[in-house]
Amino acid sequence: MEKKIDRIGVLTSGGDAPGMNAAVRAVVRTAQSMGIECIGIRRGWHGLISGDFEVLKPGSVSHILTRGGTILYTARSEEFKTKEGRKKAVATCKMLGIDGIVAIGGDGTFRGALELSRMGIPVVGVPATIDNDIGCTNYSIGFDTACNTAIDCIDKLRDTMQSHERCSVIEVMGRDAGFLALYVGIAVGATAVLVPEKKLNIEEDVIEKIRDSRIAGNTHFMIVVAEGAGKAYDIAAAIRDEIGIDPRVTVLGHIQRGGSPSARDRETATRMGYYAVKAFAEEKENTVICIQNGAITAIPIEEALKMKRSLQMDRYEILETVGIKAFPED
Ligand code: F6P
Repeated sequence: MEKKIDRIGVLTSGGDAPGMNAAVRAVVRTAQSMGIECIGIRRGWHGLISGDFEVLKPGSVSHILTRGGTILYTARSEEFKTKEGRKKAVATCKMLGIDGIVAIGGDGTFRGALELSRMGIPVVGVPATIDNDIGCTNYSIGFDTACNTAIDCIDKLRDTMQSHERCSVIEVMGRDAGFLALYVGIAVGATAVLVPEKKLNIEEDVIEKIRDSRIAGNTHFMIVVAEGAGKAYDIAAAIRDEIGIDPRVTVLGHIQRGGSPSARDRETATRMGYYAVKAFAEEKENTVICIQNGAITAIPIEEALKMKRSLQMDRYEILETVGIKAFPED
C-alpha cells in the first residue's frame, strides 16, 4: 500500500533561472488541487538541513509567474554532500511531516535528490538551468529567456559595431556547455562562435572567419564566446595581435540569469511543475520531469543522471553557410 502524500516540500537549487518561480507556482497550485499541503524550503538543500522553510498557500505564489529569480532563494550546499548533512535533511522532513520533495535545479541538485531518495524521502526533479545542459531533457527551464536576453544585448551591440565598423567579442554564459552560445550565435548571425566542446584554434576559428567575412564585404564582426571556451579579453587580444583591429569586449555575465521569463519558459515551467506533483500520485517519484522529443516524461533519477546531451555540432555548418560566406545585404 503506497503511503499517501499529504505534504510536500519544494525547493530551488543551484544557479537560478528565469521560470523557477513559474514552476514553484505550478507545484503549489497543483498540490492544492490534490489536497496536498506545500512547504517552501528556502536556499535549496541547505535550507532542508537548517529547517529554513515557509508554508506556501495558493495565495503565496500569486504574482510570481512573471518574475525572474526564485522567491525561495537558492544556494549550493557542500554540507548536503555529506551523509551527516543528509541525515539532518531527513530529520527536517520528519519534523515537518514532509512526504516528498520537488527539487528544481540542475544536475547537482538531482545528485543530491538521488541520495535523499535512497534515505527514504521521495523526490521529483524539475530541470532548470540557463545552460540547458542537463543530459536527460531536451529543454531546461530558463534557457529560452537567457537566449533572448543575450540576443537583445548582441543586437544592440551590432548597431554600434556597424556604425564604427568594429569587431565585438561577446562572452556569454556556459561554463561547461555551448548550447547557449551556439543557439545565440546562429540567432544573431555571428561571425564566429566558440564553445567548450570544440578545442579552440584561434587562427581557424576566429582569425580566418573574420578575414572571410571581410572579403565577403562586411566591415563589422561579432564573435560570440562561451565562458567555458575562453575569455573574451584573450580572444580580443589575439585578434588585435593578428589582424591589427581593436575589438570591443562585452561580458554579458549574470544579466543572462535574470529577467521576466519568456512565454516558452513560463509555459514549460508550469507544465513541469504540474507533472512533478502528479508524479507523486502516480507512483512516479524519484524521477526527473523531462522533455523528450516534445513530450513530458518522468525518468528515474539514477537513469537520468547517466544520460548525456551533446551539442549539435552540425549547426556550425548552418551558421557558416547562412552567415559568414553570405554577402551583406546591399
Ligand atoms: O549554471 C548556470 C550558470 O549560469 C553558468 O552558465 C555559469 O558559469 C554559472 O552558473 C555561474 O555561477 P555563479 O552564479 O555561482 O557565479
